[in-house]
Amino acid sequence: MDIDRTTQLYFSPTHTTRKIVEAIARGIGAAESDRIDLTPPSGTWQPAAVIGGLAIIGAPVYGGRLPAEAISRLRRISGNGTPAVIVAVYGNRAYEDALLELRDVAREIGFAPIAAGAFIGEHSYSGAATPIAAGRPDAADLQLAEEFGTAAREKLRRLGPAAEWPLLPVPGTFPYKEWPGLAGIAPLTREASCVRCGVCVAACPTAAITLGETVTTDAERCIKCCACVKSCAPAARLMDNPRLQQVAEMLSANCRERKEPETFL
Ligand SMILES: Cc1cc2nc3c(=O)[nH]c(=O)nc-3n(C[C@H](O)[C@H](O)[C@H](O)COP(=O)(O)O)c2cc1C
Repeated sequence: MDIDRTTQLYFSPTHTTRKIVEAIARGIGAAESDRIDLTPPSGTWQPAAVIGGLAIIGAPVYGGRLPAEAISRLRRISGNGTPAVIVAVYGNRAYEDALLELRDVAREIGFAPIAAGAFIGEHSYSGAATPIAAGRPDAADLQLAEEFGTAAREKLRRLGPAAEWPLLPVPGTFPYKEWPGLAGIAPLTREASCVRCGVCVAACPTAAITLGETVTTDAERCIKCCACVKSCAPAARLMDNPRLQQVAEMLSANCRERKEPETFL
């Protein structure tokens, strides 16, 4: 089967998943590439159907699972039997059941996963004092992602009729790991440094931030993705929470050893 088009589908608050998905698309090298960015809050993108070509579906790992927001948004897309490369991007700790969950969700919405990858992105809680996979994906990761895209394209070319494709094996166990999340925590705004530019409002994938007299954050809507923290040029947004600070310190100390991307074809 020749591939004339790719569709990039991703949820990526801090852009590392997007970079990996884009590199995979470059490696596939189709003449046309569509993009469905599921990151902005609901209502800014439409339910869509993907038909034909090769889709690349990417999501970050949260607590060894997929973010609930990524799943609910993916469920508004239909794959119509389109083959897909699936990719989970994690912050150098572990991806546990996330890739399995992504494969299962992709199949449920009508895609046919033919290749899977687990790549590494800078951890959402990485900071100057607590670096965790800082700067990743780097040039070596992106090179591997491109090569993976090319290998997936070649695999699809070799495959026979879709009805005969075997289930793609990926690591993970079902029932998936339970992850309680981090309820009630949200970044704060240091008003003295805030220039009221609204970049945090635009970056938030769940519309949890409101710019009024002051910047307010709805902690129940916040998914702790740190998109607002990482996009705030004057560094006025901070995750100033003792529990998350402890998590960041623990991850920075225990996840120093560089993990490498894994692919399953
Ligand atoms: C709430 C939350 C939970 C996370 N859980 C994990 C995890 O279980 N394992 C891991 O290695 N990284 C974890 N991360 C880090 C992200 O997977 C990583 O930073 C990823 O690159 C973010 O993707 P994005 O840039 O596309 O948003 C977590 C991040 C957040 C915000």
